[in-house]
Amino acid sequence: MSAALKTEVPGTPRHFLELSDIDGGTLRRMLDIGVRAKRGELPGKPLAGRHVAMIFEKPSTRTRVSFEVGIRQLGGEVVTLAGKDTQLGRGESPADTARVLSRYVDAIILRTDRVAKIRELAEYATVPVINALTDVSHPCQLMADVMTFEEHRGPIAGQVVAWTGDGNNVAQSFIQAAARFNFTLRVATPPELAPPAQLIARARAEGADVQLLNDPFEAVRGARCVVTDTWVSMSDDKASMRKRHNLLAPYQLNQRLLKAAAPDAIVMHCLPAHRGEEITDEVMDGPQSVVFDEAENRLHAQKGVLLWALGLA
Ligand code: CP
Ligand code: NVA
Repeated sequence: MSAALKTEVPGTPRHFLELSDIDGGTLRRMLDIGVRAKRGELPGKPLAGRHVAMIFEKPSTRTRVSFEVGIRQLGGEVVTLAGKDTQLGRGESPADTARVLSRYVDAIILRTDRVAKIRELAEYATVPVINALTDVSHPCQLMADVMTFEEHRGPIAGQVVAWTGDGNNVAQSFIQAAARFNFTLRVATPPELAPPAQLIARARAEGADVQLLNDPFEAVRGARCVVTDTWVSMSDDKASMRKRHNLLAPYQLNQRLLKAAAPDAIVMHCLPAHRGEEITDEVMDGPQSVVFDEAENRLHAQKGVLLWALGLA
């Protein structure tokens, strides 16, 4: 953890934008709340009287439903909008949107494919802003992923996690998570699709053990967890689909690759999966897969994020 990192700035809302913005102890506190939520140990309706606005500029099943259900289970109210149905979708600035929504609601959740948009929204919002995925990050997913690993295999610190496939938004949040939760991360991607060097350098400077490789077999050797994701993300140019598929085919998470990991390795995927592409049916439906626990844990982990962001935990 960087000594210079200041999660709490008096008078500023507790935004949840990137894992790297928040210190490891605070993220751990959110996860602990998520675990307690899953066990049914959270008392009462802590979000009673609170309202949350969610804007999705990109499709979503898990994030949208898990946040909506979670907010309601905690006693809060939620307004969910598709980006195209808002004035943000017609060019109203994120800054003005932030100023207006801050007068109505207690928190704003945004999914967008331009990270600059959520940064601007957070800069002008006087309520917390939560990142529900951008082109370069998916921090809520990582909270659920760490929770899922620990539920199945105990503390993640010191463990080896392997990523195979595209160096996309989820991979980039995994790199930030390695720095905050102190696990070793081996990322195997084609050189053309490697995550940004700057992001890796920053994580390493903060003490993270992040190894960048091109050989998926080398990456998974002995790993306790193997993770992959779609070969074409929502923010990717669809014209590049064929090229991406050709580059990424050797990184498919199949039984042969999984056999090279630790015998008790678990398999994660944020979903939606493209079965037969980045992951085979055999692996996704096999005994080592925890992908549906992982999807469920979005609901629980995000309660920790919400309660922290609203200053209720
Ligand atoms: N994993 C995830 O964020 O799924 P959705 O796109 O369905 O929200
Ligand atoms: N990398 C994927 C994640 C979907 C939850 C995408 O951005 O489309």
